[in-house]
Amino acid sequence: MQTIHPDVERILIGEDEIREICARLGKEISADYAGKNPLLVAVLRGAVVFTADLMRSISCPMSIDFMATSSYGSGTTSSGTVRILKDLETNIRDRHVIIAEDILDSGLTLSNLIEMLGSRGPASIEVCAFAVKDIAGYTPPVTPKYVGCHVPNEFVVGYGLDYAERYRNLPYVGVLKPEIYS
Ligand code: PRP
Repeated sequence: MQTIHPDVERILIGEDEIREICARLGKEISADYAGKNPLLVAVLRGAVVFTADLMRSISCPMSIDFMATSSYGSGTTSSGTVRILKDLETNIRDRHVIIAEDILDSGLTLSNLIEMLGSRGPASIEVCAFAVKDIAGYTPPVTPKYVGCHVPNEFVVGYGLDYAERYRNLPYVGVLKPEIYS
């Protein structure tokens, strides 16, 4: 039985499920990218935990690099753009790029990233999102090729996801109690 953090209302995705998700995604990616030496791009900071698990489930040769982007602020308007705070060290021309993200919420971070990286001449770009947030009546601008799970439109933390930089270290994804952020 998993112990639950006192600020967390309930667990959405537990450790066993996370293991299964990473194993499945790693298997899919290994099959799709055999012989292609893909570059796994982790978007700091949230995706670090997922990326560390995912890469250990990938059996084909691959490399890893990191990017950091500025937050565009809150909300789900389509006007947001992100800025690069830390760029890749790797030249991605003719490389097969897989962007690893912890969560697709509005999808603005990913759509911006795909546009920015797409202009550098990669052989391909795909997205592997651990979680996609289901928002009623909203269709995100990006459809990840690889999706770990779907989460409801609630304040989720853990497994890399934060509230005010806290809770990233929780080994599961849970819903934060409203009294913590209201
Ligand atoms: C979070 C998350 C994604 C992005 C998803 O990052 O890690 O990168 O927001 O939201 P979107 O689909 O609405 O763009 P954040 O900018 O909070 O930085 P962090 O990774 O350091 O938490």
